[in-house]
Amino acid sequence: MADRKSDSTLPRDYIITDVEVREEKMLGEGAYGVVKSGRFYGLDCAVKKLKPSMFPAGMKQLDQQTELILQSFYNECEKMSRVRHPNVVQLLGVFSDSKTRLPVIVMELMNESLSRLLHRTKVLPCHVEVNIVHDVAQALAYLHSFRPPIVHRDLSSNNILLTEGYRAKVTDLGVAKVAKGSFFSWDDTPAPGTLVYMPPEVRKVPADLTPAMDIFAIGVNMIQIKTHRFPRPGPEFISGRLGFSKMVPEKDRRRDHLDLIARSNSLKQLILDCIRDNPRDRPTGMKLCERLTKIKTEHDYLDSLQRGKMTAEVSSLLPR
Ligand SMILES: Nc1ncnc2c1ncn2[C@@H]1O[C@H](COP(=O)(O)OP(=O)(O)OP(=O)(O)O)[C@@H](O)[C@H]1O
Ligand SMILES: [Mg+2]
Repeated sequence: MADRKSDSTLPRDYIITDVEVREEKMLGEGAYGVVKSGRFYGLDCAVKKLKPSMFPAGMKQLDQQTELILQSFYNECEKMSRVRHPNVVQLLGVFSDSKTRLPVIVMELMNESLSRLLHRTKVLPCHVEVNIVHDVAQALAYLHSFRPPIVHRDLSSNNILLTEGYRAKVTDLGVAKVAKGSFFSWDDTPAPGTLVYMPPEVRKVPADLTPAMDIFAIGVNMIQIKTHRFPRPGPEFISGRLGFSKMVPEKDRRRDHLDLIARSNSLKQLILDCIRDNPRDRPTGMKLCERLTKIKTEHDYLDSLQRGKMTAEVSSLLPR
């Protein structure tokens, strides 16, 4: 059971108690957190504990940097608690671990991550692919509509989670910012994979962190959805004339993967638009949603949806 007494350092508005953590039921592990299954007043949930190794000095002896990280974490919790959308994993609350005193995040329970789904399958039906992308685009359109906009900043396929019916929700909103922005430097991130989703303007100093960075990331996720491969790009620079290094356009860095996607595929042009080098040339979240809605009226999508329904009907008739 969670610690009943509230910790004065935790923001009171979203402290919850009586969360039963099923220590033996591990859902996954990331660079800075361990996720376990839990139960909160009859509801199955996911419980994410920050790794104590992130705080070598422990919580008893908080140094200034750790204090800052935690404060920033709480600010992000506040932001997350304001967010309510069917395509964003819902934060249920936070409590303080009775042993480590580190904050523990309790959230809506999902089935698996997009990265896992893509790893364990070779191809997905067209309507499943488009639905996942549309769900994520809807989440982005919503987050970016806040003033100031909420920028996810770490939209990797690990942070897109799926329901049993393959509908998508984004997670780790802001938490990722704390982890990636404060715990580690860009060069030193223990999850270098996530740099793969970053556009050119974010890799420069100072970084330009606008909603367009999430649009770039959704483009990279689309490449991954279409190829089922980790979308590692080619080199960022090549040596040009007179020995000066020249920046490689993103579509060229990602050519090997893009070539695997048929030109006729309806997601291809969308991908190319999302990974444009100039953030101003990328579509907005709203525009992306409009284009995906249109794709949902095309033959390939409707045909795939129809087949999916038929398969579901047949399997529902089979004895269990
Ligand atoms: N709400 C949830 N419901 C079900 N499983 C979850 C949930 N949140 C996370 N997981 C699982 O736990 C794993 C670890 O999540 P975590 O956010 O700690 O790291 P990550 O996002 O996978 O990687 P990293 O943070 O290193 O980029 C996820 O990949 C996912 O499989
Ligand atoms: Mg995550």
